[in-house]
Amino acid sequence: MKIELCMGSSCFARGNALVLERLESLQSEEPGIDIELSGHLCMNECSAGPNVRIDGKLYQNLNADEVVDIILQKKARS
Ligand code: FES
Repeated sequence: MKIELCMGSSCFARGNALVLERLESLQSEEPGIDIELSGHLCMNECSAGPNVRIDGKLYQNLNADEVVDIILQKKARS
């Protein structure tokens, strides 16, 4: 699963710093989870952020727990 976190200053301050920490923890808690995590420059959607793209789909204004829920649901379906 490909996850791109917007690391622009707005998204980082609005929550993606915590999302990043949570996803790094998830990778160590669940070593079998297939996550390809990468950072992204500003996606030009700052006002709707924080922005996260998961397998090409843009998700907006989610907190870390909500991002993890989406990932775990996608994993359960695969
Ligand atoms: S900083 Fe994330 S969209 Fe601009």
